[in-house]
Amino acid sequence: DAADKGTYPFYMLKEVDEQPNVMRKLAQTYLSEHGVPQIDQKLLDAMQAADRLYIVGAGTSYHAGLVGKRLFEKLAHIPTEVHVSSEFAYEQPMLSEKPFFIFLTQSGETADSREVLVNVNDAGYPSLTITNVQNSTLSREATYTLLLHAGPEIAVASTKAYTAQIALEAILAKALGEATGQIVAQDFNIRQQLGLVATGMQAIVDEKDKLEKMANDYLMQSNRAFYIGRGIDHAVSLEAALKLKEISYVQAEGFASGELKHGTIALIEKDTPVIGFITQAKTAGLTRSNLQETMARGAKTLTIVRESLAIEGDDLILPDVDEMLMPLLSVVPAQLLAYYTSLNKGLDVDKPRNLAKSVTVE
Ligand code: G6P
Repeated sequence: DAADKGTYPFYMLKEVDEQPNVMRKLAQTYLSEHGVPQIDQKLLDAMQAADRLYIVGAGTSYHAGLVGKRLFEKLAHIPTEVHVSSEFAYEQPMLSEKPFFIFLTQSGETADSREVLVNVNDAGYPSLTITNVQNSTLSREATYTLLLHAGPEIAVASTKAYTAQIALEAILAKALGEATGQIVAQDFNIRQQLGLVATGMQAIVDEKDKLEKMANDYLMQSNRAFYIGRGIDHAVSLEAALKLKEISYVQAEGFASGELKHGTIALIEKDTPVIGFITQAKTAGLTRSNLQETMARGAKTLTIVRESLAIEGDDLILPDVDEMLMPLLSVVPAQLLAYYTSLNKGLDVDKPRNLAKSVTVE
């Protein structure tokens, strides 16, 4: 039974380990043997008719949307906005003439997101729910649904749903971009890339001992930590920080690394952990110098770097996949760092205090 923990001490670890298979499952479900996306033509037509995409979600799903924005804009050339559902519901931004809504929700039951969908349906706008739960409320009420096929996610801290959401956004963006003749989309070999992602994820989850040691050396002794990066690395740093705070109660923040010096660097003292994501060629040097600035103020820094950008002394090397898909790999060590910090503090990893898996009140 997929909801059985088996020999795992906690569901979260099992779900982290399932991610390579989830990537393969998504490729099998949504791509032909030759890597051609198999997406309902009516959905593609409706999205193509839109002049702007609005991605709406909460928590980890919101963070998956931040990565999705980059994918839709780069591969499909459609301007995309990402919104926190509880904010959007009561302060709707000015909409474009032909909006299309994408709801990201693992459970399909988040009340804040549903509130937005109710308004969207009242206004008669088309929508898609990307969810892990068939027949969930948001799935039933949206115009279209795509399923994540990640299997039940039991741990409160979301892991495989995040990576599944990003992979499915990539498939959808590729399909849309191809349909409108975007060269970047045509050149993007998604089937091969998802294969590389699955292998890369496996290599990372096989380094558990190393990650447990890092959690012990860097995160166990501190009651705060910073994840930093630029662009898509910033998006991942927000998710990395959320993982750490929700299960280990370390006050963690994700920052755009260039923004640190405009205030937050004042918080850095001796031994404050600062973890930098470096997966994008354009900003690698900048994030490195931002890390150095924190080091000069006493921070204990750690680098999570893609192989082709690595230099001597980097702490954790990620296998290379297309830059756009690097979040699928860079988030995995952050999930495991959070897991081991929580575990070694003796906390209940799967059921952190004050949190619910699915929040059905606004
Ligand atoms: C809760 C969960 C989070 C999740 C968020 C959104 O806060 O604890 O892990 O990211 O809800 O849930 P959804 O099911 O809409 O993705």
